[in-house]
Amino acid sequence: MLIALLGAASVMGTMAAATAAAAPTVSAGARLAATCAACHGTNGDTHGSTLPRLAGQPEQALSASLHAFKTGQRTSTIMTQIAKGYTDEQLGLLAAYFAAQKPGAAK
Ligand code: HEC
Repeated sequence: MLIALLGAASVMGTMAAATAAAAPTVSAGARLAATCAACHGTNGDTHGSTLPRLAGQPEQALSASLHAFKTGQRTSTIMTQIAKGYTDEQLGLLAAYFAAQKPGAAK
């Protein structure tokens, strides 16, 4: 009986841990991306801006751009300074977040 209870408790504990681990990954990307909205529009969806739209670009393309900005391989006016402020893991979260956004969703 005690063993069954302990077993159930550990399963619930595992489920809670899985839920807790999954949620911050999504919101971490969204939280980081809030900084980008000033220039790139809500959710990376630029309306009538000269900046390219981030929303819906392939994750690999976004990731490659961000890393190229960070290392200076790709010239930029501002993005190198911005990209240098993030770890490679955070740039990955940002790329995944913007790739998952639907272009045209933000009004
Ligand atoms: C101060 C305005 C500004 C902010 C804030 C900003 N960007 Fe940019 N972004 C630019 C400009 C301008 C360019 C064009 C390249 C350049 O001149 O730096 C650009 C280009 C890009 C590109 C290349 C897009 C393409 O398809 O060529 C990506 C990816 C990008 N930004 C991601 C981000 C992310 C992610 C953030 C938030 C962490 C961010 N930017 C914040 C101004 C900004």
